[in-house]
Amino acid sequence: MAVTLNDRHITAFIKGHELEGMQPLVSAAHTKLHDKTGLGNDFLGWVTLPADYDREEFERIQKAAKKIQSDSDILIVIGIGGSYLGARAVIEMLRSPLYNSLKKDTPDIYFAGNNINPTYLNEILSICEGKDISVNVISKSGTTTEPALAFRVFRDLLEQKYGKEGAKGRIYATTDKARGTLKELADKEGYETFVIPDDVGGRFSVLTPVGLLPIAVSGCDIKALMDGAAAAQNAYANDDLSKNDCYRYAAYRNILHAKGKSVEMLVSYDPAFTMMTEWFKQLFGESEGKDQKGIYPSSATFSTDLHSLGQFIQDGSRVMFETVVDIQKAKQDFFVKDDPENLDGLNFLSNQDMSIINRRALEGTVIAHTEGGTPNLILEMPEPNEYELGWLIYFFEKACAVSGYLLGVNPFDQPGVESYKKNMFALLGKPGYESEKEALLKKLQ
Ligand code: PA5
Repeated sequence: MAVTLNDRHITAFIKGHELEGMQPLVSAAHTKLHDKTGLGNDFLGWVTLPADYDREEFERIQKAAKKIQSDSDILIVIGIGGSYLGARAVIEMLRSPLYNSLKKDTPDIYFAGNNINPTYLNEILSICEGKDISVNVISKSGTTTEPALAFRVFRDLLEQKYGKEGAKGRIYATTDKARGTLKELADKEGYETFVIPDDVGGRFSVLTPVGLLPIAVSGCDIKALMDGAAAAQNAYANDDLSKNDCYRYAAYRNILHAKGKSVEMLVSYDPAFTMMTEWFKQLFGESEGKDQKGIYPSSATFSTDLHSLGQFIQDGSRVMFETVVDIQKAKQDFFVKDDPENLDGLNFLSNQDMSIINRRALEGTVIAHTEGGTPNLILEMPEPNEYELGWLIYFFEKACAVSGYLLGVNPFDQPGVESYKKNMFALLGKPGYESEKEALLKKLQ
């Protein structure tokens, strides 16, 4: 079984010759990616990672995960952006968005260092009271302010609680193999470290130790996740658009963009997928949104957003297309019983699984939105399991890289992220930013 692109509903918007016309461009993008001749070619490690990952380190991840499961009630995962979203997205998709509230024999997992909000930090600290804790701090650069600040707090907490030596056995650092403040600190303190490969950028790193350690702690089968991604690597190795769903998706996006569709909404009918849409938004937003170009990535979870954004999608500015992730099997179904009294008039829904009702909602919505002028692409995911999710992750990563090359940007850098940091540092008085501070203060008056 595999993730499949269903493009039946796109034919009203894109003619066959338009897709054929994309073949040479897609082939050129494919060559750039595989021959490493395109922009950002230092960051292509993710292309072959599912087949080539470090097996010895993988074993260490599984061992560390078992240790955390055995000695901790809570794992705090500290990271931001690509060092955060993937792990949380996979855990919510495969375990549950309600993971921490479920009865389970794996630790609760809280994510810190992805914001600078003091209330959020205080709340996590209060949840940790009286509990055994481990910390996985994740930062490729090892210098990002938000996670570094959170790590200072949790390192102090662990040292107070377990002493320096005890804390050392509960802190896991995922960072660059040689560089950065976090690496220096980890070496000095003797923390167990995992490596983010040099040639894998943050938003492409979920299948490295960045995602794998927290995902393994949650009880997911990380081997099956990698196997699914490896199968996708194999399936999308050919540049023929008629056989490569991933490249066809990238080509459709590009054609729709040229027709004025400047917003893509990633949609699912499963709240467990909502963090995956956040991961998707980072992947495509940071990769494509530059040089004053790019499709704006947005997201919705239906049915809830049908009752908020649904009006706009059906009838507002015709600027968007939808990519619907159709998860074809529910992890747990629910049988809707008949009610002899039928006071609520809902017996037309009874005697069937709720997943069927959800499916009819999907089908009805796809037709309504398409007829309203919003093109719909559908990605069919047979089951919400590790293998299929690994496949889907690789699908999006490769589609994103090819889309970026089709757009003519470097999909692997993020120069725009630096601007806010510069201003924040200056306003906070970081040494070296003195001249900027004065100018900024004037602008704020
Ligand atoms: O995709 C990216 O590169 C970014 O989102 C980074 O992952 C994010 O800024 C965190 O960086 P770091 O892992 O260096 O702390």
